[in-house]
Amino acid sequence: MMRTRPLKVALLGCGVVGSEVARIMTTHADDLAARIGAPVELAGVAVRRPDKVRGGIDPALITTDATALVKRGDIDVVVEVIGGIEPARALITTAFEHGASVVSANKALLAQDGATLYAAAERHGQDLYYEAAVAGAIPLIRPLRESLAGDKINRVMGIVNGTTNFILDKMDSTGAGYQEALDEATALGYAEADPTADVEGFDAAAKAAILAGIAFHTRVRLDDVYREGMTEVTAADFASARQMGCTIKLLAICERAADGESVTARVHPAMIPLSHPLASVREAYNAVFVEAEAAGQLMFYGPGAGGSPTASAVLGDVVAVCRNRLNEATGPGESAYTQLPVSPMGDVVTRYHISLDVADKPGVLAQVATVFAEHGVSIDTVRQHGRQDGGGEASLVVVTHRAPDAALSGTVEALRKLDTVRGVASIMRVEGE
Ligand code: HSE
Repeated sequence: MMRTRPLKVALLGCGVVGSEVARIMTTHADDLAARIGAPVELAGVAVRRPDKVRGGIDPALITTDATALVKRGDIDVVVEVIGGIEPARALITTAFEHGASVVSANKALLAQDGATLYAAAERHGQDLYYEAAVAGAIPLIRPLRESLAGDKINRVMGIVNGTTNFILDKMDSTGAGYQEALDEATALGYAEADPTADVEGFDAAAKAAILAGIAFHTRVRLDDVYREGMTEVTAADFASARQMGCTIKLLAICERAADGESVTARVHPAMIPLSHPLASVREAYNAVFVEAEAAGQLMFYGPGAGGSPTASAVLGDVVAVCRNRLNEATGPGESAYTQLPVSPMGDVVTRYHISLDVADKPGVLAQVATVFAEHGVSIDTVRQHGRQDGGGEASLVVVTHRAPDAALSGTVEALRKLDTVRGVASIMRVEGE
């Protein structure tokens, strides 16, 4: 039976995502009403610049006073798509206080202070949904929070930043260097004028914190996530990866430790075998590979950014929250009962690809191998190419077996001190084998 009184939605932000949310709410109003069981109405839109033309939105709904909008008291769902920490956090908590549930796309806020938002939602009996905060349109948060709630997730490994995947894919497919590929990404609108948040891994790290928290039922904050950007990846690294049957991706990796007593979360470029499903994720697409005890391996794939894809995720949450309200219920809140600590990067165990410039003379290989042995890092393969320039130098590529990151760091530090090691050209983790 359809309820006639509409559920009221307030929109905070009307940029690329917000305007798509408003448009779809209007054009698909009948379908949304049928799916929810009540009409859903756009009751107000808070913007910074009211003079900007916003096609299709009734000008009477536009306001610059976001606080007054969330305090109205008749709003059922506040959709927050303004991003950043403040005023978003204050607006969300005020919305809960005034009886509204919240749908947010704000990864930075959720990664930095999700616990405060969850606590406020619970205190006021409201929902906090945020499917759009990680990997755009890809259904991922709800599968992790709900569909896999009966399973035990051991690992989440994903490409959660489209800009960097576009750049790395261009480098791989064309042999371009980082700067050339970045320039192309900027020209095509994939990279922002200041690409720091993407290329230095901040965006992916926020998403890793959110995913790790949900997957392992513990609190993981942005500061807990180890982060390395991808600006140092070179065309030579891709050539080396190819020789190993690998490509290079910027990965967000969340893992439960082998003893189950702790978790880790990290973002860095890594080599992965071409046979791994994540290796075939091209251009600006995102994908997340989940390993769960009972389910086995799952992969979630799709567009991770953009107005329409992100609006799709937001509207899915709006429908879910509206259904909950009609049932006078709420969906899942924070699940952090395991209280597993987040271990430092030094505890992460993985394989490494290390490229060294060394003197090409007797005993150097033995010397280098001794340093690895002294730090308990076992070598899997070694490749050496003498330089053709007659300068007495060679390029040495060492691939290790699995070793703790701290042991690898100690190895590299000691290698740098050897007279015969002229330089450490690159260090890259090898994942997904
Ligand atoms: N800048 C992000 C990306 C999208 O390139 O994937 C928003 O998280």
